[in-house]
Amino acid sequence: MNFEFTKEQELVIQTAREFAETELKPIAAECDLKGTFPMDQYMQMSDMGLIGLPFSTQYGGAGGDYLSYILAVEEISKVDASVGISYSVQTSLCMGAINTYGTEAQKQKYLSALCSQRKIGSFGLTEPNAGTDASGVQTVAVKDGDHYVLNGQKCFITNSPIADIFVIFATIDRNLGTKGITAFIVEKEYEGVSIGKIEDKMGIRASQVGEIILKDCRVPAENMMGKEGRGFGIAMATLDGGRIGVAAQALGIAEGAIDETVKYMKERKQFGKPIYKFQYLAFRMADLKARVEQARYLVYKAAMDKQLGKPYAESAAIAKMVASDCAMYVTTHCVQMLGGYGFIKDYPVERMMRDSKITQIYEGTNEVQRMIISGAMFR
Ligand code: CAA
Repeated sequence: MNFEFTKEQELVIQTAREFAETELKPIAAECDLKGTFPMDQYMQMSDMGLIGLPFSTQYGGAGGDYLSYILAVEEISKVDASVGISYSVQTSLCMGAINTYGTEAQKQKYLSALCSQRKIGSFGLTEPNAGTDASGVQTVAVKDGDHYVLNGQKCFITNSPIADIFVIFATIDRNLGTKGITAFIVEKEYEGVSIGKIEDKMGIRASQVGEIILKDCRVPAENMMGKEGRGFGIAMATLDGGRIGVAAQALGIAEGAIDETVKYMKERKQFGKPIYKFQYLAFRMADLKARVEQARYLVYKAAMDKQLGKPYAESAAIAKMVASDCAMYVTTHCVQMLGGYGFIKDYPVERMMRDSKITQIYEGTNEVQRMIISGAMFR
């Protein structure tokens, strides 16, 4: 087993860390407060090649390895988990699906635009009645000549209000269950695509999450990904990758909270000494650090499973479940360490605690992750 990063991976860590510290840190609190997305900074990430990091140079990507991309998500999320999830959804879910299931023409057109033409991607699976039970997709796709006509409504879709390109799941026949679900690439500019309610959220407030409304939206048949009725498998397999991104986001949040808390504990004096000199508090930090290290190796293991072409559904589920629980636990304790200062917006740990919560919920709740892990155990 090799526990060393490659030179390229070290460079990605350093580049993403410097970018996050200089470009995201100064604005993260304000974007959170106002619920605004740092578009200029996100476009810089595109220009720097971070967005297309794990994709082939043939499609405008940087040709990096998968672990490098996961390390970049982690670094960005240490400072700003909202940008972390926008990046992860675009890369793992939207671009990941097109890269794996798209035709050559779809990759040339859409993956290239997402890698190098500053386009933003989104992934529309969830609906009001298709959350944990993703098979309940009600959005319909009816074949009409060389087009499919899509009608339906997606909800809680990350990046939808700012996206140019959507991967949308619709059914060709509601009676077919998972066997009817089909994947399409849909452009924002297509007639019949609109964005409904934009959500006002507890955490990751700078990321833009909303409804996608499809009303008689005509999608060229050439934009179907895979075959009719194969979309559910595409969604599930793509989400396996997405969960590694969420796990990296959660890991980053936990690490960011520890960094901020250590800094505070060195500065904050009570009873005449910095509070880290109280062994009870220092030991609690040691426990938090140990939890983060446990999560780290699960996240990197899942990323390496994917990178090496091994099965990774189970390791991704474990990494996502453990890292998100770790983020929630660690940030809750970090807020406690800061006392009253942990509860106000002058320090970022308050935001980090709010941001952590969703990592236990999206891309499959942690209960779904347990279904996947136990399902594999008792197959
Ligand atoms: N890869 C490939 N195929 C898969 C698969 C995988 N990981 N998991 C299941 N499948 C296939 C099965 O092989 C099966 O195929 P056959 O019918 O040909 O045998 C088919 O899919 C149905 O499988 P199941 O019967 O296991 O499916 P299910 O209906 O019982 O669902 C579930 C299982 C795990 C609960 C699934 O519905 C699930 O993952 N739910 C959570 C959905 C989710 O994660 N949503 C997140 C939305 S996106 C998001 O959150 C992004 C964001 O904004 C941040």
